[in-house]
Amino acid sequence: MRPSCDRNKPHNGHFAQIQPLYYIKMYTKIFRAVIIGAPGSGKGTISELIVKTFGFLHISSGDILRQNIIKNTDLGKKAQSYIAAGQLVPDEIVTKTMIARITEVGNKSYILDGFPRNGAQADILSARCQINAVIDLNIPHDVIIERVKHRWIHAPSGRVYNIGFNDPKVSGKDDVTGEPLTQREDDKPEVVAKRLQLYDELMGPVLAWYGERGLVTTFKGRETKEIWPRVERFLKDKVNKG
Ligand code: AP5
Ligand code: MG
Repeated sequence: MRPSCDRNKPHNGHFAQIQPLYYIKMYTKIFRAVIIGAPGSGKGTISELIVKTFGFLHISSGDILRQNIIKNTDLGKKAQSYIAAGQLVPDEIVTKTMIARITEVGNKSYILDGFPRNGAQADILSARCQINAVIDLNIPHDVIIERVKHRWIHAPSGRVYNIGFNDPKVSGKDDVTGEPLTQREDDKPEVVAKRLQLYDELMGPVLAWYGERGLVTTFKGRETKEIWPRVERFLKDKVNKG
């Protein structure tokens, strides 16, 4: 595998994670994965499990945009109305932001969540970095619509909770900081429906592009508890092969 971002400067500690030593010792090569799936398919949930198990960094475009909205940065101001309407943020804004973050991360294994999101973004990413695997989560829409109704987030960190699935320890509060949880503006049912439709339109060609290169593995199911053991086995096999 070609670590094509080697020339990048090391990350600044912003993404520091607890690395599970048994994997880190066995595997020192850089592994880069993209996780793809409809809104609410569990990309964030599965990515968090990958972070805990394999020590990869999680780079989520949605989390980065939401953090910028909270901080009221120029990027946040530009992104806010698109997100609230369930539309994509313009490519040039997202691409610049994500490539900057990937560059900042440097020579680390990571999982990209929410990027690329259309053919133009996939082209730019492929010119910049080699991706080793694409994890495609295929969850029926009825399951998704039911899930997002119960989703609560800690927006500054991107931590996700779901009432009845992974409840916070204290109702309405983030487990780590104790700060209040909020519901996402784009989780309103009418906005979710729009996001699902947009996903089907735009991600078909991206999946086909990665599929032609033999990179896509699809995980189909209704429950994270049935999907995660399969993703874990798949990644163990991949990272051990190097
Ligand atoms: P983004 O944040 O990327 O949203 P998304 O892709 O729409 O995906 P979600 O974060 O909604 O869902 P998820 O798959 O992570 O699921 P989760 O793990 O939370 O993007 C938001 C917006 O930003 C976009 O609409 C766009 O405007 C903009 N944007 C982002 N990237 C962009 C890009 N590249 N270009 C342009 N614009 C961009 O799980 C869902 C819920 O289900 C959670 O509550 C979870 O706890 C729960 N759950 C998981 N498993 C189970 C289970 N088994 N049972 C019950 N609940 C479960
Ligand atoms: Mg997410």
